Amino acid sequence: MTDDPRLNPQIGEEIDPHTGHREVDPVTGYDTTGHDWNGIRELNTPFPKIALWALALSFAYSVVAWVLLPAWPLGQDYTRGLLGLDQGEMAVERYQAISADRNEWLARFETDDFATLQADDTLMLPAMVAADRLYQDNCAACHGSDGGGGPNFPVLSDDYWLWGGDPETIAETLHVGINGPGDDARYAQMPAFDWLERGERIALTDYVTAMPQGTADQTGAGATLFAENCSACHAENGGGGMMNGAPSLIDEAVIYGQDRASVSDTLRYGRQGVMPAWSGRLSNAEINLLALYVANLPQRAAEGQK
Ligand code: HEC
Ligand code: HEC
Repeated sequence: MTDDPRLNPQIGEEIDPHTGHREVDPVTGYDTTGHDWNGIRELNTPFPKIALWALALSFAYSVVAWVLLPAWPLGQDYTRGLLGLDQGEMAVERYQAISADRNEWLARFETDDFATLQADDTLMLPAMVAADRLYQDNCAACHGSDGGGGPNFPVLSDDYWLWGGDPETIAETLHVGINGPGDDARYAQMPAFDWLERGERIALTDYVTAMPQGTADQTGAGATLFAENCSACHAENGGGGMMNGAPSLIDEAVIYGQDRASVSDTLRYGRQGVMPAWSGRLSNAEINLLALYVANLPQRAAEGQK
């Protein structure tokens, strides 16, 4: 504490200019302001010096900052400061550095074949992280965040494929899409069988719903109708695999469902699931990256990772 009586109220000699007398609080020894609120007196303590210093320092800093850093808005523009820092430019530079780094390894997905890529662990580790981001942004909405599919959208994380689960076939599926507008699009139409009689459709429904359990009656009307109308696309035993997008009906994997209601709808109205073509939306390298990612989904699911 200073001994300047103007700064230290404990030793101040001044008297109150309004009342003409000085009133000292007996407990603290401070002057009071003379204000009295129902017996409560306010101490006349000085403004803390640390706060004054802080104010002075921040003002001094702001002057330095105005000179050195971007500070004052000038309508369309702003003062740049002597250091010429621009966080926008810094962010762009950093982004360019990251994307240059990414393009360096991504370029290999354009040029190298899948086996070489897959064998290179130091490449695949960071690449699969980027692939996951790409998958979540573009594919997860339909196929589920873990490839688990959903009603009307096929599972990508099991071993049942419509067209094939090797990276080459998946890349081709991604390039052209399925049932889309493009000329190259894979074509997978389940025709409507609304022209069959209701009884025939019921016999077929009985037959098809029992196929995955292997309990379908091979001697009844359902089996005959299946051989006549369905085996051309779904194969004689219903096992699919004919590269026309018609799924196997004897395994547990389903797109729309192999319960009575779903099968009966499929027969009445047909099915044409649409998968968009990704050529043009994604680069070749990104499509190959995703093809490897999707080809690995069954293994990831088996290992219980995401
Ligand atoms: C708008 C929804 C939609 C989006 C988005 C979508 N798909 Fe598909 N995808 C489908 C549908 C529907 C099918 C099945 C088409 C059919 O029924 O024949 C399919 C089929 C596939 C197949 C064929 C599976 C097989 O068994 O052969 C692959 C592979 C595939 N999608 C991967 C992807 C990837 C990778 C992406 C992201 C780049 C993606 N899909 C985005 C709807 C979508
Ligand atoms: C011209 C070829 C073709 C014929 C003929 C055909 N299907 Fe299909 N079927 C398909 C295709 C392609 C799909 C997949 C459609 C999709 O993914 O959108 C399909 C899908 C289905 C599904 C849905 C499977 C699931 O996983 O949800 C059932 C059930 C089915 N067919 C039953 C039949 C029956 C029964 C017949 C005979 C009456 C038949 N199909 C005849 C091509 C055919």
